[in-house]
Amino acid sequence: MSKNTVSFYNKFSFLYPIVDVFLKPQKRKLFQEINNLPFGQLLEIGVGNGTHLPLYNTHKVIGIDTSKNMLKIARKQKLKDVKVLQMSGENLLFKEHTFDYIVLSHVITVVDNPEKLLEESFRVLKPKGKVYILNHFTPNNWLRHIDNSFQFISKTFHYKSLFQINNLTAINKFKLLKEISLGKLSYFKLLIYTKA
Ligand SMILES: C[S@@+](CC[C@H](N)C(=O)[O-])C[C@H]1O[C@@H](n2cnc3c(N)ncnc32)[C@H](O)[C@@H]1O
Repeated sequence: MSKNTVSFYNKFSFLYPIVDVFLKPQKRKLFQEINNLPFGQLLEIGVGNGTHLPLYNTHKVIGIDTSKNMLKIARKQKLKDVKVLQMSGENLLFKEHTFDYIVLSHVITVVDNPEKLLEESFRVLKPKGKVYILNHFTPNNWLRHIDNSFQFISKTFHYKSLFQINNLTAINKFKLLKEISLGKLSYFKLLIYTKA
């Protein structure tokens, strides 16, 4: 966990609702999928300001984030069956096999060490549990040049513009169940994996 990223999100917390307006349409699909699952223990890593929290209507939810200012906004909502904690997804303080579902929404390209995030997610997930990864994924076409050229700027905004999930070793621990393309050019996707 980088102190710089924490400090960036602490400062950025009041502006995040503007970013969220653009992300909202793709998140609809995420919640359609999640709310159709049987009841379970759900962990959202990088829960941010908690706009997702009232949208989970089936599960017992824990949301974690490293930014205390993001969490301060999240905690203003008093929701039943929802807990919000300050913790890093790269170092989860939960026992193995705790959760049925894990949501990683626009966080895998923000954490310092995405390998560690996936390893920790694998550890705390129950066997046959599912991970929902919503993010941009750099495709193998001309768009990768754009992601490449954005690398410099993306550092300023504490995310990785160039991101190919299959380059991560830890993803091989999971089995891909479903890939849902969201929006134009399939740049944003919802990938659903299971711990087989
Ligand atoms: C782009 S925001 C995404 C917020 C929300 N999940 C969404 O989809 O709108 C990324 C969030 O990840 C958090 N974050 C960054 N590194 C983290 C880490 N190592 N563990 C947990 N949260 C982290 C940031 O503080 C920020 O709130």
